[in-house]
Amino acid sequence: MRTPIIAGNWKMHKTLDESVAFVRELAPRLEPFAGVERVVCPTFVSLAAAADALRGTPIKVGAQNVSHEEKGAFTSQIAPDMLAGLVEYVIIGHSECRQYLGETDELINKKAHAALNHGLKPIIAVGESLQQREAGEALPFVERQVRAALADISAEQMAQVVIAYEPIWAIGTGLNASVADAAEVCGHIRSIVRDIYGDAVAGALRIQYGGSVKPGNMLDYMGAEDIDGALVGGASLKVDDFTTLVELAAQAKGV
Ligand code: PGA
Repeated sequence: MRTPIIAGNWKMHKTLDESVAFVRELAPRLEPFAGVERVVCPTFVSLAAAADALRGTPIKVGAQNVSHEEKGAFTSQIAPDMLAGLVEYVIIGHSECRQYLGETDELINKKAHAALNHGLKPIIAVGESLQQREAGEALPFVERQVRAALADISAEQMAQVVIAYEPIWAIGTGLNASVADAAEVCGHIRSIVRDIYGDAVAGALRIQYGGSVKPGNMLDYMGAEDIDGALVGGASLKVDDFTTLVELAAQAKGV
């Protein structure tokens, strides 16, 4: 049985004070849903304060990116050991980072290794563009991203990895992938992982769907066997919506 995981990706939202106030309000609301892993990913500026405010609660903290370098002359970057001990998760390969920061599959693989080497759990994001979807290339494209991101990651390390399928055209647009399409890609991701690592690793891997997830469509996605949770942008910025998403995940998965 895989533990469902709902992660809120705040992107470039909320100041330090807003972040702390938000998690203080959110934590007691999410507390009852112990069968769901609940993660918030504030900006770097707010990570330490959010982690402090959440200490002693079951809500976990994630970062939105990490450098693959250990230290050095990399202005603006955050090294994995700066996050180790502060956060449990780190989002890697978000399509906005691929697009705006020019992150490549090769770099994302390096970041995944760096995270795992420092005890951070990567949430590796993959997903196709609308053009690729319309050209019928979604599955092979996502397959290439998954295989590249996982290069040389061991079966043992895979226990720490989460994969998030986020079709680019569905992120922040209000357009969401149909449940059938999302389930097909998530099933394909699991079959790729089965091909590389075998049944046990594939069966244990948690795969999230992301892209305009909201209370109104959450149950549909969570009804899919291969979708184990969600990576949520917009709806994670509101306490009520985020709470409802976690509640619906618990309900759908019977946890
Ligand atoms: P969205 O963002 O829920 O606002 O579409 C999801 C994401 O980018 O992780």
